[in-house]
Amino acid sequence: MDFKKINNNIYWIGVNDRETYLFENLWPLPQGVAYNSYAIIDKKIAIIDTVKGSYESLYFDKLKSLLNGKKPDYLVINHMEPDHSGSIKRLIDIYPEITIVGNQKTVEFLKGFYGDFKNIHVVKEGDVLELGDCELEFYLTPMVHWPETMMSYEKKSKTLFSGDAFGGFGTLDGGIFDDELNIDFYEYETLRYYSNIVGKYAQMVVAAVSRLSKLDIKTICATHGPIYRTNPAKIVQDYIKWSNYQTEKGVVIVYGSMYGNTKMMAEAISKGLKDSGIKDIIIHDVSKTHLSYIIADIWKYKGVILGSCAYNQKIFPPMEQLLSFYENAKPKNHVLGIFGSYSWSGGAVSRLKEFSQKIGWEVVEPVIEVRHSPREVDIDECIKLGIEVGKRI
Ligand SMILES: Cc1cc2nc3c(=O)[nH]c(=O)nc-3n(C[C@H](O)[C@H](O)[C@H](O)COP(=O)(O)O)c2cc1C
Ligand SMILES: [Fe+2]
Ligand SMILES: [Fe+2]
Repeated sequence: MDFKKINNNIYWIGVNDRETYLFENLWPLPQGVAYNSYAIIDKKIAIIDTVKGSYESLYFDKLKSLLNGKKPDYLVINHMEPDHSGSIKRLIDIYPEITIVGNQKTVEFLKGFYGDFKNIHVVKEGDVLELGDCELEFYLTPMVHWPETMMSYEKKSKTLFSGDAFGGFGTLDGGIFDDELNIDFYEYETLRYYSNIVGKYAQMVVAAVSRLSKLDIKTICATHGPIYRTNPAKIVQDYIKWSNYQTEKGVVIVYGSMYGNTKMMAEAISKGLKDSGIKDIIIHDVSKTHLSYIIADIWKYKGVILGSCAYNQKIFPPMEQLLSFYENAKPKNHVLGIFGSYSWSGGAVSRLKEFSQKIGWEVVEPVIEVRHSPREVDIDECIKLGIEVGKRI
């Protein structure tokens, strides 16, 4: 069975999900996702997290084949979201003597989701669990991205089990390590995971990463995505950058348009951006591209230009979805351009202005609102907006 050795005592016993369309029933998975679970085999045997319930049969085949008749002593729960906790009940059915290791909040969630269990070992920040040569030290990292989340650090091999932090979408095809995979693909899918799912809690991520900085980390084992053994510093640096809202030179234009008038404005704005020397320009049609990709691109780049047609006295509905995501997540360090079109009393540009107040991003003039189709003078204004945003990037 397909378990994989990470180092002397630690094994990957995760599964690849290529069937689920939407992660959390929200985020598209064109290249699937891996649920990573790990086992530490020492005098005592510990399992770190499990997998989504629909994969438990495959998972237990792997686990049993690795254990070869032995029984696990501990299940360490770093995170209770069901993509990792979904096989816990079955695990306890198979190994009723196993001790569950989690913090106080984990126990509350465990009972709520799966009922009462007898063998529970509650840990606090800094507690250590001896397994033999290996020792697990626990770091509580609340709200990265649930309240019970924690990380476990194995001191002998200097391996950090980080939960969802540093994790990304994409199955592990062939290899499991950063040096065995096309890491550029995972970098984008990790940004997409981070910006959509974890980014709202950026301040908690900053706090967690700064506490971890005292650790010597040789390997990072997250619950999704590659295992970082060759360059763990790279993903930590990316996380620091994303959580501190450090953006890159580039602009994302997002428009909502039914019949092409607002789209025409977006194209003209991109010309202005090009004229001001910006090379990284991404235009998204908000009706076509899934929000998760738009959100990832906006997280990366400093410039954001939003445009929409009016729709039933309001903004175009798919654009409203994007705005409401940002009003909740509130990332910083962007400059904003606003444009739109209408034919009678409007509704889109006024909503974009309200958004700019709520989010607090600097608005670049001119704000452009066109009635019916854009004329040449309007197109010139759009080019000007592109140039002005370009100057501030
Ligand atoms: C279903 C529908 C609802 C609309 N609602 C409004 C509205 O409430 N107020 C307004 O000024 N224009 C409204 N419009 C007009 C469009 O916003 C306007 O024609 C705009 O220029 C269309 O831009 P587009 O070509 O980018 O789709 C509506 C158009 C449609 C098709
Ligand atoms: Fe999660
Ligand atoms: Fe997860």
